[in-house]
Amino acid sequence: MKNTGGSDGAKRRAGESAAALADDGMTVGLGTGSTAAHAIRALGRAVDAGLDVRGVPTSFASRELAREVGVPLVALDEVESVDLALDGADQIAGGDLIKGGGAAHAREKIVDAAAKRFVVVADPSKESDALDRPVPVEVLPAARTAVARAIEGAGGEPTLRSAERKDGPVVTDNGNLVLDCDFGRIDDPAALARTLSGTPGVVEHGLFVGLADEVHVGTDEGVTVRRFGGE
Ligand code: 5RP
Repeated sequence: MKNTGGSDGAKRRAGESAAALADDGMTVGLGTGSTAAHAIRALGRAVDAGLDVRGVPTSFASRELAREVGVPLVALDEVESVDLALDGADQIAGGDLIKGGGAAHAREKIVDAAAKRFVVVADPSKESDALDRPVPVEVLPAARTAVARAIEGAGGEPTLRSAERKDGPVVTDNGNLVLDCDFGRIDDPAALARTLSGTPGVVEHGLFVGLADEVHVGTDEGVTVRRFGGE
């Protein structure tokens, strides 16, 4: 798993705080990353103690972890609605997010957007006044050159994400590639999201605009909850 900074204690407190929102009968979206992993582990302990939920994994990694800790699973295409989604983020500004540090943002966006309540779990290093990290863009392999050109035309600098401990690029759970696209400070995330979504060959991008209902930020002392009332 990638290292995205922030203390493990802060991530654990955020994950546990959000997992405590799960109730009997709920279908719960299981996000990807080190902070969401704490939420999945907490959910596993609650299931052990009798909680009746089923999880919708957003990646190979979240499915494996959920199986390991005993969260019953249901596939994304079998789910009619998601009650609660628990997911991490790479950067948070207001209610807008950049996700995709783990290259799982395509499935994460489907689950998070479908959820009646989307709760982001994070440590304080993720909070920012504005979004300015590179935006992960999942692309069809055959479209990577055309998409890279379009990104440059939109003022971004695309970099093909390289794998670690493997020669060559990261290949997503969906068999695609990832371009990390540096746009500098993003003053209008909604406009950029529309541009990226409208680019042929883009499978999904990591801008999550107005989707989050609340953010649980773990600190050394406890958890701060911010509510946005997602759209
Ligand atoms: C994966 C993601 C993760 O949620 C994001 O990278 C945050 O991860 P972490 O909690 O490990 O910092 O978007 O695609």
